[in-house]
Amino acid sequence: MSIDWPALKAAALAVQGRAYVPYSNYRVGAALLTAGGEIVAGCNVENATFGATCCAERSAVFAAVAQGHTAFRAVAVVTNGDVAGTPCGICRQVLAEFGSDLEVLCFTPEGAEARYWLSELLPHAFRLK
Ligand code: THU
Repeated sequence: MSIDWPALKAAALAVQGRAYVPYSNYRVGAALLTAGGEIVAGCNVENATFGATCCAERSAVFAAVAQGHTAFRAVAVVTNGDVAGTPCGICRQVLAEFGSDLEVLCFTPEGAEARYWLSELLPHAFRLK
């Protein structure tokens, strides 16, 4: 089945609006497409300690796992500006936990867009299994 990218992008945009970003004002939304065709979204949630901040991609993964999903086909990530932000290194590793055969679409409402495989963004991911 082909991926409904417009639906995934719409979910990322919707959750981006809920980002809690009082420190950076950098809003990120991430929408994961599960193997079963469901969409689970997450936004970045910042914290006064800075270090306790959670990125949008990890928020989405953790929400999905809590809902019983551990197999994913794609993730759409939205940021703002002329350059589409890509998942940070920690988020790449967290996504890779569930397989590197994952399509990653990074885009901005301003028109930037880039598509990758997770295996390109994080080659040789660390694995224990
Ligand atoms: N951020 C994400 O949500 N995802 C990333 O992959 C990179 C960074 C967030 C964390 C923080 O709230 C803000 O962007 C600035 O770093």
